[in-house]
Amino acid sequence: SEWNLHLYQGFWYFSTTLENVFYLQENFNADPTDILICSPPKSGTTWLKSLSFAIMTRNRFDESSNPLFKAVSHECIPHLESDFASGSFSRDQELKLLGTHLPLNALPKSVFIENCKIVYICRDPKDLVVSMFHFAKKFPWPIFSFERTVERFCEGRSYYGPYWDHVLEYWKMSQEKPENVMFLKYEDMKENTLFYIKKLAEFLGEPFSQEEEMEGVPEKIMNMCSFENLSNLEVNKTGIHREGSAVEIGNNAFFRKGEVGDWKNHFTQKMKEKIDQTTQDKLHGSGFTF
Ligand code: A3P
Repeated sequence: SEWNLHLYQGFWYFSTTLENVFYLQENFNADPTDILICSPPKSGTTWLKSLSFAIMTRNRFDESSNPLFKAVSHECIPHLESDFASGSFSRDQELKLLGTHLPLNALPKSVFIENCKIVYICRDPKDLVVSMFHFAKKFPWPIFSFERTVERFCEGRSYYGPYWDHVLEYWKMSQEKPENVMFLKYEDMKENTLFYIKKLAEFLGEPFSQEEEMEGVPEKIMNMCSFENLSNLEVNKTGIHREGSAVEIGNNAFFRKGEVGDWKNHFTQKMKEKIDQTTQDKLHGSGFTF
């Protein structure tokens, strides 16, 4: 079926993605100023990209003309697996941001040679798999039951999975090279959004000035990129993601609930025990917890 996954270098991919990954690994030359926004799918990518884009472009656009109001953030920032391989890739020299779902070990080598900065976001695996399950429904193919989705997820069989391996690789690098890797959790960002927006701006090399703080610029960016605001934009209600591509989905597929703890409405006790055990086994000895 369309959900057939292929294992490559320890991670699972759709066949179409895999071709692009080969191409990327062979041909992508990172610039030292590139900043990669890396994430497993459904971890909060749309939000992190929006925030990063809003931070980087805050002096380029006034509050009404920002491209974020006219296109979902995935289209404001090039995505390596799709845009680079399709040849429609070009860098915005002022922006420097690039998105990817690739695991660390699959990133093109030049990313490390050029010492590129990386911002990573991850999320409680229970909420992530719930998000993934609902996202799958947006595609024109039959889906697995939620129970089966969780089982497969625990076996590592999810696109760009095993999820825990994806997280641990980036987490380890963030411990070794904190100046290169900023490691974020969706739950922390939800709880302390403003704090992380400021941290993110610093890491991206565009810290807020005192004057900007006084003017409430970080708050404006927070509000601009909130789930409520973005999900209610016309473009995100009715727009099509990658219009004209083989599989079109609505931009609204990227906005569902935007909450922490929705897993409680989906998991049975047995399923919860299974995923928690998997998490415990996978993270054992790593020093990392969700
Ligand atoms: P839910 O399905 O739990 O609602 P990704 O962007 O990596 O595909 O992740 C999608 C998840 O992020 C979805 O989670 C979605 O609702 C949530 N999300 C999208 N935009 C958001 C925002 N601005 N703030 C918080 N969460 C957001």
